[in-house]
Amino acid sequence: MAQNAMVGIVMGSDSDWPVMEQAAKMLKEFGIPYEVTVASAHRTPHRVRHWVEEAKRKHFHAIIVGAGAAAHLGGVIAAECNIPVIGVPIDATSLNGLDALLSIVQMPGGIPVACMAVGKAGAKNAGVFAAQIIGRSNVDVAARLDVYRDDMAEQVTAKAEALEQRLAKEG
Ligand code: RP5
Repeated sequence: MAQNAMVGIVMGSDSDWPVMEQAAKMLKEFGIPYEVTVASAHRTPHRVRHWVEEAKRKHFHAIIVGAGAAAHLGGVIAAECNIPVIGVPIDATSLNGLDALLSIVQMPGGIPVACMAVGKAGAKNAGVFAAQIIGRSNVDVAARLDVYRDDMAEQVTAKAEALEQRLAKEG
């Protein structure tokens, strides 16, 4: 566990980690300390409640929640605290993540969960989104976000130029 974690990453099962590690990678890139655990809204409800109490005590700036199937974990955590909850629907069943997407996105008014895309892109964006929340009051993180965007734009431009040149050569 990181010292003075600013973000908590929690997922319904360790089987979610291959997707959720994308969120952790982004937080690492932005220099944001985080902690990771597994807790299930259905299988370990008491563990979830205890974890949320700890998250409140630690003053997390955001909580990233990954869950598949009937994905209630984000909603349950959001119901217990005022920390922004960022949900990542995991493609874990024969419904290809549609089940988790609908479970996370359709929260009742008053208890929001910011729902990302299904799968790895969603987990990656959850890390960026948490950084954007923190970046409003942390100049180091804000500067790293600017660099990240500039790098991404440069990469796209380089790819575009490479493709244009290849196609021009092919006639
Ligand atoms: C959900 O059920 C988890 O978040 C996971 O995506 C899915 C399957 O869990 P396992 O059966 O692999 O533990 O609660």
